[in-house]
Amino acid sequence: MTKLCLIGYGKMGRTIHQLAKSKASEVVSIIDPNLPEYASRITKEALQNADVAIDFSHPAAAISNLKTLIELKQNTVVGTTGWHDRLSEITTLAQQARIGFLYGANFSIGMNLFSRLITNAVEVFDSFEDYDLYALEKHHAQKQDSPSGTAIELANLILAASGRKNKVVWDKLERRPEPDEFHFASVRGGSVPGTHTLYFDSPADTIELSHIVRSRATFAHGALMAARWIADKQGVYSFSQMIQEILC
Ligand SMILES: NC(=O)c1ccc[n+]([C@@H]2O[C@H](COP(=O)([O-])OP(=O)(O)OC[C@H]3O[C@@H](n4cnc5c(N)ncnc54)[C@H](OP(=O)(O)O)[C@@H]3O)[C@@H](O)[C@H]2O)c1
Repeated sequence: MTKLCLIGYGKMGRTIHQLAKSKASEVVSIIDPNLPEYASRITKEALQNADVAIDFSHPAAAISNLKTLIELKQNTVVGTTGWHDRLSEITTLAQQARIGFLYGANFSIGMNLFSRLITNAVEVFDSFEDYDLYALEKHHAQKQDSPSGTAIELANLILAASGRKNKVVWDKLERRPEPDEFHFASVRGGSVPGTHTLYFDSPADTIELSHIVRSRATFAHGALMAARWIADKQGVYSFSQMIQEILC
């Protein structure tokens, strides 16, 4: 059994808790500052000797949570988004502390495989100039950040795979896009499940590739897999690096 501490007991924390037993894991501790029945701060005592802490909290809380976990030399999986602009700083701290640290904006196995298809599709369409490229991500009205962390990861893959696009534009465009610009729009509303769609558009036809989340279980299964994988490791890994290592 892998012993887990859940940091953030919202939609994701609760889903992971429900599924933990089915993945040979046990939740030994929960930390959430806004729920009085649980510990409010990350301390050695509150971690209850967990093998791995899993953070699905709030974009604004992520850096402070991660620094505390690293100081406590706690192996950690972090699914919280909105902090990856400080990834290199956190990576250095985690490496210095010699802990196992795994991060990702999207722990869905399906999304990970979709990313591979996207890379191939961009390479295939790249030689056919009639086909322009743009993308749209949609999420429920509760989501705190925009664009989604997954959209940022997809955009980086697309720019790396395309010979024609050099720049992603996230904001609304009040002019024509430049040929080397790739427009990635975000919409927030209602209960929309996380949806990422890439469009290849020509004067004569459109090809759409979509990944649509049906349930948070897809992320929870990935997070539980990541926790078991990182429990006895040192080093910093992305979720996609873990999948790559498992496939090899
Ligand atoms: N990597 C992935 O696969 C993946 C998948 C889904 C979601 N996410 C990301 O994971 C994060 C959480 O998503 P969610 O849907 O579970 O959100 P949520 O339902 O809002 O849950 C977050 C929970 O963390 C609590 N919290 C706030 N500050 C905290 C702190 N300092 N320490 C511990 N807990 C704290 C929140 O309390 P309050 O509500 O009172 O603020 C809430 O109970 C978001 O960044 C989301 O984008 C990632």
